[in-house]
Amino acid sequence: MDRIRIKGGVPLEGVIAIGGAKNAALPLMTASLLTPETLTLENVPDLADVATMSNLLVQHGAAISMGEASSAGGHRVELSAAHITSITAPYDLVRKMRASVLVLGPLVARCGRARVSLPGGCAIGTRPIDLHISGLRQLGAEIELAGGYVEARAPKGLRGAEILFPSVSVGATEHLLMAATLAKGETLLVNAAREPEITDLAHCLVAMGAQISGIGSDRLRVVGIEGLHGATHRIIPDRIETGTYIMAAAATAGEVRLTHTRSDFVTGLVRVLAEAGVEITATEDGVVVRRRGDHLDGVDVMTEPYPGYPTDLQAQFMALMTTAQGASMITETVFENRFMHVPELARMGANINVHGASAMVRGVPRLTGAPVMATDLRASVSLVIAGLVAEGETVINRVYHLDRGYERLEDKLSACGARIERLRDGA
Ligand code: EPZ
Repeated sequence: MDRIRIKGGVPLEGVIAIGGAKNAALPLMTASLLTPETLTLENVPDLADVATMSNLLVQHGAAISMGEASSAGGHRVELSAAHITSITAPYDLVRKMRASVLVLGPLVARCGRARVSLPGGCAIGTRPIDLHISGLRQLGAEIELAGGYVEARAPKGLRGAEILFPSVSVGATEHLLMAATLAKGETLLVNAAREPEITDLAHCLVAMGAQISGIGSDRLRVVGIEGLHGATHRIIPDRIETGTYIMAAAATAGEVRLTHTRSDFVTGLVRVLAEAGVEITATEDGVVVRRRGDHLDGVDVMTEPYPGYPTDLQAQFMALMTTAQGASMITETVFENRFMHVPELARMGANINVHGASAMVRGVPRLTGAPVMATDLRASVSLVIAGLVAEGETVINRVYHLDRGYERLEDKLSACGARIERLRDGA
């Protein structure tokens, strides 16, 4: 398995282009199952998760062609599910990537039937899909769980309903939004998630002919129609990649300009970092990041659904706070087990104590490099940030986690002066 070696202590200086949002690309790709016509997505990032989703969709009968990267970076991908040849999403693919369950709703909406493996456990929490299933049931699907699979049927089609989410779920909102576009009658999704990736999906569905109002709010109204058509849609920039490089720049006391992104997607982070002593200036197509003084101050953070502080930037923030002056209380409210990076950061010299859903980080003068590994994407990248700051050498194992969500991470960081390289398997 590949590893990444970092020799820390170099302030990042330069320009980083941000790619298309992974967490927008994945549901958007599944939306191609809603129509027999071609859905063309632009600004698709070249990531392991995108490849896994392509494999799954091909397995359902879709034809997918990925074009060369444009000068701005993203790829143009044409997805055409003219004929659905299989309504089963097998365990091997769903197990690899939980977002695979999002094919269930589009398949049952279009074909009246679907069989999707239950995803099982996950490194960051139990992550059940009960909200997805109960929502589809409310849309009229008959659902049974058998042999580790969700078997859904709606032979006469789905029908609109009012669905009140008891808690906010990004995936369940996306799932039911897609399914409702082809249901008979009107659907109202109440207490819907409002992440920019959901808004992006809604805009694409509208371009495909769907009737959706309330986009961007927590009440989405969908008037179902007979069929959707093809469309071309440009995926929004990745706000988590943006936030990650903002924190890498701040942690190393460098100055970095991020391009091809949007400052309005990271306002929660900007507010917190301003308190910590980081200056983030919006530019026409992104932000410039630099520190205000010679040190960072400890700041408390609590993760929440959008527009709150994102859980997907919690681990990176913790890495940043390890060398701040003072203490920082970091509370994770979205997932129950998202502190897997704590023992690894501790191996690099960080002083962190976890009490239930909160981690108390007491800043230390310096981190020291160490061999580390992590069990999920954002935990892994937090170790990259720590490695960039640490004295000496850090080797990060299980790089495949990073490849799921960060395109050309080593290239982007080394272009800003970081001493970072990938050690190929066996090196
Ligand atoms: C999405 O996951 C993202 N994934 C995650 O990105 C992100 O961390 C998460 O939203 C929260 O922002 C994609 O977009 C592909 P949820 P999702 O449903 O949809 C509970 C990354 O690193 N829940 O909003 O699975 C669940 O267990 C990642 O890129 C139920 O209880 O998240 C969690 O505690 C990983 N029942 C909370 O809700 C359900 O049926 C929020 O999960 C569904 C969710």
